[in-house]
Amino acid sequence: MPRKTSSNNKSAKLTINNKTYDLPVYDSTAGEPVIDISGLHSQAKVFTYDPGFTSTASCESKITFIDGEKGILRYRGYDIEELAKKSDFIEVVNLLIYGDLPNKEQLKKYKKLITRHTLLHEQIINFFQGFRRDAHPMAMMVGVMGALSSFYQDSLDIGDAHQRQEATRRIVAKSATIGAMAYKYSIGQAFVSPKNNLTFSENFLHMCFSNTAESFKVSPIISKAMDTIFILHADHEQNASTSTVRLAGSSGANPFACIAAGVSSLWGPAHGGANQAALEMLEEIGHSKNIRKFINKAKDKKDPFKLMGFGHRVYKNYDPRAKILKRICQKVLNHVGIKNDPILKLAIDLEKIALKEKYFIEKKLYPNVDFYSGIILKAIGFPPEMFTVIFAIARTAGWTAQWTEMIEDPIQKIGRPRQLYTGQNNLKYGAKRSKKNTR
Ligand code: SDX
Repeated sequence: MPRKTSSNNKSAKLTINNKTYDLPVYDSTAGEPVIDISGLHSQAKVFTYDPGFTSTASCESKITFIDGEKGILRYRGYDIEELAKKSDFIEVVNLLIYGDLPNKEQLKKYKKLITRHTLLHEQIINFFQGFRRDAHPMAMMVGVMGALSSFYQDSLDIGDAHQRQEATRRIVAKSATIGAMAYKYSIGQAFVSPKNNLTFSENFLHMCFSNTAESFKVSPIISKAMDTIFILHADHEQNASTSTVRLAGSSGANPFACIAAGVSSLWGPAHGGANQAALEMLEEIGHSKNIRKFINKAKDKKDPFKLMGFGHRVYKNYDPRAKILKRICQKVLNHVGIKNDPILKLAIDLEKIALKEKYFIEKKLYPNVDFYSGIILKAIGFPPEMFTVIFAIARTAGWTAQWTEMIEDPIQKIGRPRQLYTGQNNLKYGAKRSKKNTR
């Protein structure tokens, strides 16, 4: 079914075996146009081949726009720089899910709704007891997020708009509580309940750093930094974890289970796991005098090492989120009394040297969102294992917005890619093997 909203009567021509097919072309409101190949197989009996989806738009979306060449990121049309300065995380969640900024009254109501959903069912505590204390907090995030699918059965009818909204609010609100519980469990401290008089970010810091003996005093500079980190990580169009959520959700699956799938995808070091890996890499480099050795490793085709927190599928310019994070770094370090942090100095030196290298210039590799975030989170007091958990908490905003958009899209179908089959055919069971089984 062609999209009336974006059809422009343009078409592309594809010739296969002397037969020409007209493929509709749709204009974006910003960014490149797309060629609609959805009818190609039924007409021409061919598939398109695009490993890693480097040239494929998997859906139409009105949520987030990235101009990778210029380093622009917009949520629902608003520039990330302005949102980071003027908005707060829950307003951004509302913006992403509902399509525009809420008015004062709407925002107040929404904040109250999110706050009221931060508590978890008491039975959830039993899930945590099943994990080893040394489990990675992301393992707990995946497991407990998936477990929510058995608890909130009054928000599972995805055909009902009210239940869908209730599920999105629960996912965003409870993700921070789960993340904080994962942290507390891993350090052997009692869980801290959420407090309704705190903002989302203050509350997360409180649940992580208060304990039974003492309440954590949340400083405005730290809570603003935390909130900005949440805003910057809230959505990023069709990245791997968001596409995972959409694909899982396309079968009509339980929304909490779909988000658990997104958390799993985010965990990998090529994606959200890079924030932990970037800080660990900086610690391994240790001193500016060793940078050259690591740059050479990154350039060596035979060495799997990559500069973590560098490079991006879409950005061929500085990631605008990294720019903002770099600025916040110094502010947070000053506030917590860290003067001349050797890791920040090392990161800045590494960036300077890498950006002058032919290899990085030619391949357009710049720092991404995961390069500086770890330095801030470490200064706030989080161990590296928590960095990706914090990314996941923020990204529940984007995942739920994109999941909602997908469910409400009249064109939505179950996701089902095809393949280029290059395996064997017509083997006879028991006959002599043509190839050795090497596994
Ligand atoms: C996130 O997609 C999103 O929007 C993700 C994200 C979000 O908000 O959701 O922005 C969050 O995932 C950020 C990215 C975090 N990952 C890392 O920092 C890990 C290090 N970076 C890379 O592995 C890589 O740059 C990716 C995974 C981010 C992008 O991979 P692509 O688009 O598949 O690019 P590629 O791996 O094919 O790289 C192109 C070339 C290759 O060289 P050639 O084979 O062409 O010779 O650049 C080289 C790569 O080897 N390259 C690097 C490099 N990144 C790419 N070389 C050294 N160090 C690097 N970091």
